[in-house]
Amino acid sequence: MSDSRPIAVFDSGVGGLSVLKKLLEKLPDENYIYFGDTARIPYGEKSKEQLISYAREILDWYGSLDVKLALMACNTSSATSLDIVKSDYTFEIMGLIYPTASYIAENNFKKIGVIATSATVKSHAYKNAILKLNPQAEIYETACPGLVEIVERGEYNSKKAYEAVKVYIEPLLEQGIEKIVLGCTHYPYLRAVINEVTLNSEMLIDPAEFMVKSAKNYLDENNLVNHSQPCNSQFYVSSNPAIFEQTGKIFLEREIKADLLDTKVYSDSKSLV
Ligand code: DGL
Repeated sequence: MSDSRPIAVFDSGVGGLSVLKKLLEKLPDENYIYFGDTARIPYGEKSKEQLISYAREILDWYGSLDVKLALMACNTSSATSLDIVKSDYTFEIMGLIYPTASYIAENNFKKIGVIATSATVKSHAYKNAILKLNPQAEIYETACPGLVEIVERGEYNSKKAYEAVKVYIEPLLEQGIEKIVLGCTHYPYLRAVINEVTLNSEMLIDPAEFMVKSAKNYLDENNLVNHSQPCNSQFYVSSNPAIFEQTGKIFLEREIKADLLDTKVYSDSKSLV
């Protein structure tokens, strides 16, 4: 049995490429269709209603492409929209939060910092999911406005990035936290500057790791693995493909070609592929 239908992966911009990179390592023989909603970034400053409507538009479009699985490579969508939209689609949809909460509970981490966008923090999705599994845990959620823009501009190793990260991380360290969840898929690119602030390279938890594991299990258990070659990744954005291609090339360590997908196109769920 082989299922060559693509896997959908989406985010507001280049952040989800930190998830796609892990997918390509763990599940290299799959076809991927990546969408970065660059016309509407940052998602973190949008309302829950707006985010749900964006998620539906994007998932409707993916539905028209007959995907076998959709991955919200965006914590903000996972936090605000997954539970609401999941049952409306015939294909499985996964987010980043539940697999990460399970990992934290299994490892019995007690004092956890979560850095994320304002919308993710406002939803308390991480806090609720972790506390449900481990009511003893102490969760400190910190919204980090500005970090997404720093990463989108490719300034993730700059002095500016270090100063911004320091302001958000130091108060968490003062609380004596054991681990920090990178609760936004843009933040793994800030790993080096965060480590400079924490002086502890073992502190960070990247939720992408656990979503990728869940995706692999899902494909295995449901006989949805692709065995046919060749396979490829296609990239779409809602604005500025050239900038996405530039930053994406650095993040994925390979050339990428991105096409512009007009918001009207995905609103109408018409396929460009
Ligand atoms: N990368 C996304 C996340 O994981 C969204 C960032 C944004 O657009 O604010 O939350």
